[in-house]
Amino acid sequence: MKVKQSDIKILFSEDQLTTRIKEIAAEMNSFYKGEEICVICVLKGAVMFTTELVKHLDMPLTMEFIRLSSYGHSTSTSGKVNAVEIKLPDLNGKNVLIVEDIVDTGLTAKFLLDFIKCNFHTKSTKFAALLDKKIFRRTDIEPDYYGFEIDDKFVVGYGLDYDGFYRNLKFIGYADKSLLEN
Ligand code: IMP
Repeated sequence: MKVKQSDIKILFSEDQLTTRIKEIAAEMNSFYKGEEICVICVLKGAVMFTTELVKHLDMPLTMEFIRLSSYGHSTSTSGKVNAVEIKLPDLNGKNVLIVEDIVDTGLTAKFLLDFIKCNFHTKSTKFAALLDKKIFRRTDIEPDYYGFEIDDKFVVGYGLDYDGFYRNLKFIGYADKSLLEN
């Protein structure tokens, strides 16, 4: 591993993240107004965002966890989304909220939104991402809720990984591109 923890610079601190997540939760509380929702956490990256977010949601909710992959060991997407594990209950007539760590190309989000649309007639389907990296977008996907917009950086921490590592960082950070292997 070329990147050491000391090479990682803070982009968003723990405080910034929790403050922003509470703001997003407040928007959701006012949108759903106590209606029941099903929160779908996209593993593994969205795990910290999802767990922090649901702590601040007021409505009755259920949680589902699904796993997709498009990155493998690289810092850029393979362009192909693999459904590693998608087992969902009947979502017909439900309010569905998909929660991702970051929207980059938008291929993962598009795959999931299409999957939900093809398989269920939901009452509503919304999509939230902690980070929005628009620069490499290959789809017309825009998150309904997002935490922060970022530029051309490969970020780690708060659930996001580099080759499986650094998901446990309390903050979101980045390393210089020259240190990242492709
Ligand atoms: P997309 O399908 O290109 O939008 O990418 C979605 C997935 O790629 C995210 O859910 C992340 O797991 C991963 N990803 C994209 N950008 C980054 C990054 O900067 N750091 C870590 N993972 C990323």
